[in-house]
Amino acid sequence: MVRPRSVPGRSFAAFVAAAALGLMLQVASEADGDGPATRPVSGGVYSDGQAESGREAFALHCAHCHGSDLRGGFGPSLVPLDPWAFGGGPLSRVFDLMRTEMPFDAPGSLDDEVYASILAYVLLENGFPSGADPLPASTDALAAFELDDPPAD
Ligand code: HEC
Repeated sequence: MVRPRSVPGRSFAAFVAAAALGLMLQVASEADGDGPATRPVSGGVYSDGQAESGREAFALHCAHCHGSDLRGGFGPSLVPLDPWAFGGGPLSRVFDLMRTEMPFDAPGSLDDEVYASILAYVLLENGFPSGADPLPASTDALAAFELDDPPAD
């Protein structure tokens, strides 16, 4: 006797495809401006002074795993920031990962201001220009900044 081929696998695939499409549409509508206003990071969103203090904090708290040149070691390279994880997304995503998971050996042990200055330094090292104002040290405020590509020079 021949058993009919089962179909549940197929309909599950269709469900996944539909869910993925829905997610894409949602992301697209946010990018279209239905979501919060976005400011591109390439427009200059941190100050020089902030990045300089971030340089010192990075050397103290992060460099032993990510390398003093940020190119990785025990931890991954931070230049460029992983495009799959962070590219085109809100800058708050990077900030929150740092704030909640880093330093890997002492998560959340630094002040938000220090994380923001380290983030400014990481942006500097990624080729993003500085601007007039320092980066805000809050997830909500950083959600309005979009991690685009650094300007080509
Ligand atoms: C003890 C080693 C260690 C220290 C110290 C450390 N990290 Fe990490 N970091 C890691 C490892 C391992 C990963 C990858 C695992 C993960 O993402 O959970 C990582 C991942 C990251 C990522 C995500 C990178 C990506 O491509 O997804 C960022 C951003 C980051 N670290 C920033 C920092 C910052 C900023 C500091 C200093 C405040 C810091 N890390 C300190 C080990 C470390």
